[in-house]
Amino acid sequence: MKKLFAALMFSVLPLTAMAAGPEVPLDKVDIDLTDKAALQDGLKTFANYCMGCHGAKFQRYERVANDLGIPEEVMMENIVFSDAKIGDHMKIGMQPSDAKVWFGAAPPDLTLVARVRGTDWLYTYLRTFYEDPKRPLGANNVVFPNVGMPNVLSDLQGRQVIGCKQVQVVENGKKVFDPLTGTPVTEEACDQLTIVPGTAKQTEAEFDETVKNLVTFLAYSANPVKLESQRIGTYVLLFLAFFFVVAYLLKREYWKDVH
Ligand code: HEC
Repeated sequence: MKKLFAALMFSVLPLTAMAAGPEVPLDKVDIDLTDKAALQDGLKTFANYCMGCHGAKFQRYERVANDLGIPEEVMMENIVFSDAKIGDHMKIGMQPSDAKVWFGAAPPDLTLVARVRGTDWLYTYLRTFYEDPKRPLGANNVVFPNVGMPNVLSDLQGRQVIGCKQVQVVENGKKVFDPLTGTPVTEEACDQLTIVPGTAKQTEAEFDETVKNLVTFLAYSANPVKLESQRIGTYVLLFLAFFFVVAYLLKREYWKDVH
């Protein structure tokens, strides 16, 4: 009974955790943990844009290099910016007490964040920062209102603003066009995000890809064993197939004289 109760508690826990945030629909992201190129790109973004403030302290550089197929020299040259060694944990130098003064909140370690928040939440969070002059660092976020983190990817994404704009009317999942003129039917909608033209280094599709790869890296980081178990699983299956043949041949050999 106790066990059943515990199991029930654990099954509703993620729901209550999610209910704490505002009811914003999350954008879905389909990640592939076996995609080495995506993982490498995600690691590069993580090292360049996140590790100034966030560590991944349960993860070692060496392990990541091995898992992602990155040679040690390339890892040391491009990813390890501090005086850390290849065998070190991916820690950062910033003191949580300083960070609290600068940002109002300490940047949490991100090793396990994909397990806590989920990949869809991360994908949405990292793409929905917008300019808000009322905030101390000039940035706010749709899924994390009044966040302490500045909009660190804005040079890639461009300046994103929120406000009212004309959007095309959608009925039953279909865009509506004027039957006479064939032009799109629009209406004013508020709380809409828009990128200021000419301020982005990446197109919207490229930026989505950058964030998707970053989220893929964070998902790997939260569960590096998953990659490993997939690899081991393949070996186990190969071994079983091989063993089956050997066992079959042996059986034939042993029973030859019996018949
Ligand atoms: C300039 C420092 C800084 C940089 C750089 C930075 N962050 Fe943050 N981040 C913060 C702070 C501060 C918070 C805490 C915000 C709060 O609690 O209000 C935070 C919070 C977060 C959270 C929410 C964690 C949670 O569950 O509450 C995520 C996820 C996150 N950051 C991801 C990233 C990623 C990914 C990058 C790189 C693209 C990045 N951050 C770069 C300062 C930073």
